[in-house]
Parts: sequence; structure tokens; C-alpha cells
Amino acid sequence: MKRVAVLGSTGSIGLQTLDIVRLHPHRFSIVSLAAGTNIDLLECQVREFRPSIVSCATEAAAAELTWKLREYPDRVEVVHGTDGCRSVAVVPEADIVVAGLPGSTGLLPTFAAVEAGKDVALATKEVLVMAGELFMDLVRSKGVALLPVDSEQSAIFQCLQGQAHNPVRRIILTASGGPFRAMSKAEMDRVTRSQALDHPRWKMGPKVTVDSATLMNKGLEVIEAQWLFNVPASRIEVVIHPQSICHSMVEFEDGSILAQLGATDMRVPISYALACPDRVSSGTEPLDFAQLGSLTFEAPDFERFPLLKAAYDAINEGGSAPVILNAADEAAVELFLADRISFQDISRIVLECLERIPRPMLSTLEEITGFHDDVAEHVRRTPRHHL
Ligand SMILES: NC(=O)c1ccc[n+]([C@@H]2O[C@H](COP(=O)([O-])OP(=O)(O)OC[C@H]3O[C@@H](n4cnc5c(N)ncnc54)[C@H](OP(=O)(O)O)[C@@H]3O)[C@@H](O)[C@H]2O)c1
Repeated sequence: MKRVAVLGSTGSIGLQTLDIVRLHPHRFSIVSLAAGTNIDLLECQVREFRPSIVSCATEAAAAELTWKLREYPDRVEVVHGTDGCRSVAVVPEADIVVAGLPGSTGLLPTFAAVEAGKDVALATKEVLVMAGELFMDLVRSKGVALLPVDSEQSAIFQCLQGQAHNPVRRIILTASGGPFRAMSKAEMDRVTRSQALDHPRWKMGPKVTVDSATLMNKGLEVIEAQWLFNVPASRIEVVIHPQSICHSMVEFEDGSILAQLGATDMRVPISYALACPDRVSSGTEPLDFAQLGSLTFEAPDFERFPLLKAAYDAINEGGSAPVILNAADEAAVELFLADRISFQDISRIVLECLERIPRPMLSTLEEITGFHDDVAEHVRRTPRHHL
């Protein structure tokens, strides 16, 4: 029995993780859960999966959950905030922690999980974008397993099984292209929040959905892949594949390219991360290739989607540049989701931050989070015309 802690249990990754656990009650059990403020759903999850500790984002949410569980027969500790998430991540009974919190919120709890010697199923790519070197050093020194959850990284990870002695020539990351793949720049000037949230292939949380529309998500994945697989960004290529069936590919020295294909369903990579090296049912229907007809591939347009290029530049520069990229994007997407800026403002803000903000030396996790918060706050507080 593998005992699982879930960070972000009420979100897209969290819910699909619980689907897999539900499918395999003799293989997986839930020991702890962390979520934000969706207390009704969290209450249902506590009653169904019976964790020993559960965390909410705020003290008020924790009080509400405690009240709802006042007649619950089992013992469950209710905690809150970043410390609460940390407690969920380090609970002694957990064998593996699913890191499914969005953005920088996931950084400290995911570090805490590795520090406590837990294997990590990583969805929160921002951990590697913000602190890739520190995180991979910690993973190695603790000897824990790091299992990618992102469908593209899972595909690469699967293609690399049994290939440790074979050098990688190229990683080919596929991208759906998002809802605005075929739009002109002028058309993109007028897109709305609901259009940006209407992803053609994947149903995900709002931050990653908007990042998919700007292709920033693919840029973050290039950075994630560099750290996960120790392959420089110069050998990581992005190709647009609108059908989202081929989840990524690895090319070896002999020119052979291995690809992982499957349904457009996150339960596939999540089930592999949980059961690895075994494969267990993920509840998905078999793919019908005749029905699919064709799989197509095209080059990304760096001019219409400048954040993809910005991510390559940031990882090539290294140091604090990826932290600026991530913080500026996180705050800009927040402003966009609050209807305070336009879709195209997201990339304008990120590019301006990268151009203007001086690069400090960041050596510790505290320095990284402090600087990240400063950049995000700068974006939130600066009137648009001054950015
Ligand atoms: N969704 C996907 O298919 C997918 C694919 C690849 C990678 N990822 C990555 O996985 C991560 C999560 O994405 P998602 O789509 O699952 O996001 P999501 O649907 O927005 O879910 C976020 C989860 O985190 C919780 N949360 C938010 N703020 C919190 C806080 N301050 N404290 C504690 N919990 C908090 C939310 O709780 P409440 O809802 O209760 O407030 C929810 O459970 C992101 O890094 C994303 O890039 C996602």
C-alpha cells in the first residue's frame, strides 16, 4: 500500500489524483490533504478518504472545516496556511507527496516534502522554474524519487526509462498551441478572459490555462525539462501539436525518436507517477487512431507568443532571470483574471520586468522567495502606464 499526501486536493490535479486512488483502494491510500478555500469539497474528501491531517489556506477556512467536521467520528487535525501545507507534506506516514498547488504557493511545501525524505509526484513546475538548482540538489542529497506529473515531462520520463547510458540528442516538447494558436496579433488584442480560459484540449486550473494561451506554460516546461532531465535548453525544442495525443518525444544519438502517446487525460501521467515503475488502470478509454485521422505538427510562432522566447532567454541567462519571469507572469495573470489588464498586457508586463529589473544573486530559498514576492508586488502595485 502506497500512502499518499495531496497538496491541492480540490484542484484539477488533486481531483484527478483522488480519482486514481479511488480506482485502486488496495494500492493507494490518502494520509493527508491540503487545499485552499473550497471547504465543502474538502469536507467530502475528508469523509471519503479519512486523512489524519488536512490543511486549508486560511484560519477562517480551517475554522469552517472544523465546524463542519464537529460530529465526524475519526480524529483529523485541521491546520492552515503555508505551515499547514508543510505539515501535510511531511506527515510521517506519507510515502509520496503529490505537489499540485499552483505557482509559488507550492514552493515551500514541496521543498519540505523532499527535506522530509518523501518521494514527490511533481505537478507544480514553478518549483523548478524558481529554484531548480537548489531543488535538484536536495532531491539528489535526500535520494528521493522525483516523478513528473506534467503530461509532457511524464512522456519524456517514460521515453527515458532504460536509457540512462544513452545520451539524449534532443527533447521535443509538444504544445497544443492553446485557444489562440491560429489568431493574428490584432485578434489577440481583443480576446477576453473567458476565451483565454477556454482551452481546446485540457481542463485545468485558471493560472495554467492562461499560461497555455500565452505559451508561457510551454516556456516554463522548457525550464522544468532542463532541470528534470539535465538537458540544456538549446537541445529542448517546442513543436505545436494541436491534437495533444503525442505528449512529447526524445531523440537519441542514432536519430531514433521515442514518443509517448495517449489520451488527452491527466489521469494517465498521474497514475504513472503514483505507481511507477508499474502501470495501473487510469480509467481512460482506449485511443481510436482511425477516428483521430491525423496527428499534425507545426513550428511555434515566437513573434505572436513572445513569452516562449522570453523563457528560453531566461533559462539561458540563468541566475535570477527565471525568478523574474515566473513572478512577473504570476502577478500579471492574476491581474488579467481580475479583469484589470488585457491578455496582451501579460506578455508586455513580463517582458518589461525582464528588461528593467536588476538581477540580484540568489543563493538560498529565503532569498528566492523574498525576491519573487518583491517582483510580484512590484507588478501588482505599478500602474499599467508606468510598467
Ligand atoms: N491541471 C492540469 O492539468 C495540470 C497539468 C500540468 C501541470 N499542472 C500544474 O499543477 C499545478 C496545479 O494546477 P491545477 O490546474 O491543479 O490548479 P487548480 O485547479 O487551480 O488547483 C489548485 C489547488 O491548490 C489549492 N490552493 C490554491 N491556493 C492555495 C493556498 N494558498 N493554500 C493552499 N491551497 C491552495 C486550491 O484550493 P481551493 O480550490 O480549495 O481554493 C486547489 O486545490 C500548477 O503548477 C500547474 O501548472 C496542472
